[in-house]
Amino acid sequence: MGFPTTRMRRLRATRPLRGLVRETELSAADLIYPLFVAEGLAGREPIWTMPGIERLSIDEAVSESGAALALGIPAVILFGIPARKDPEGSGAYDDEGIVQLATRAIKHAHPELLVVTDLCLCEYTDHGHCGVLHQPDGAAPGEPEVDNDATLELLARTAVSQARAGADIVAPSDMMDGRIGHIREALDGAGLTRTPIMAYSSKFASAFYGPFRAAADSAPASGDRLGYQLDPANGDEAVRESLLDVQEGADLLMVKPALPYLDIIRRVKDATTLPLVAYNTGGEYAMLKAAAAAGYMDERRSVLEALTGIKRAGADIIITYHAKDVALWLK
Ligand code: PBG
Ligand code: ZN
Repeated sequence: MGFPTTRMRRLRATRPLRGLVRETELSAADLIYPLFVAEGLAGREPIWTMPGIERLSIDEAVSESGAALALGIPAVILFGIPARKDPEGSGAYDDEGIVQLATRAIKHAHPELLVVTDLCLCEYTDHGHCGVLHQPDGAAPGEPEVDNDATLELLARTAVSQARAGADIVAPSDMMDGRIGHIREALDGAGLTRTPIMAYSSKFASAFYGPFRAAADSAPASGDRLGYQLDPANGDEAVRESLLDVQEGADLLMVKPALPYLDIIRRVKDATTLPLVAYNTGGEYAMLKAAAAAGYMDERRSVLEALTGIKRAGADIIITYHAKDVALWLK
């Protein structure tokens, strides 16, 4: 008599039994669908780095939002592509800016759809950095640096402008220090006490943003974002950033990208109690799309497996360009 043979396969024997004991269930209700809204565009324009995703006019963004809602997707996140850029990224906090106009139009047409607005300057600055630049004392000429505190003021103005336009959630993606507290204060000061902040709290300096930057035309003209985004090698620091954002008043936290950072998703989930968002970035989308198009992998199975993995790692909500496909497949 030894120990009884453990029959793990007993629980895998039939489909209903597998369903009963399944630990993670992916649902359209978990997803946020990103939309690129371009100022002055008529209709739609394909994005070559992200097959199946397009730049949209405001009218097309309204109809795409309706399509997402009809599939059971509860939220979209808006990225604006302005007609003109300048050093201060003034298009971001223009009350008639592209994201503000799109937010109003979408909320008017689909009041029950949640509109999340990405809150950053890099799509609006002519130099492509996430904040305004300055020349720090003692720096070599021609090596500008993002001015953290000057940027905070502009981010706060952007948040108030977006929330006044009807944004249900503002999502700062800039990685400046102190931005969550600063934005919270500005929103509260403007009477917008009910607008939650979805903090891009652990945002890594990632090659997986390449396809997005081609879509949003927001690659830095010179330099990189290593001065403000997280080093991909650092996990403790990501947890520290997340805890700071909690202290400053974040309502939701985020890990971005998702697939190369599943350990971070789990660590942040275990270290905090806020809803946790994972951003399945353009690069993650593009790699599965390309492999599927080449016939290397089955698209449906690989996408569902990847997103289920992100949820199993600890994400409550997933921002993904696959959202509409997934919602269709799960129907
Ligand atoms: C803007 C922003 C970026 C993404 C979301 N907000 C790009 C960046 O930081 O370069 C990336 C989204 C994606 O890769 O799909 N700061
Ligand atoms: Zn940015």
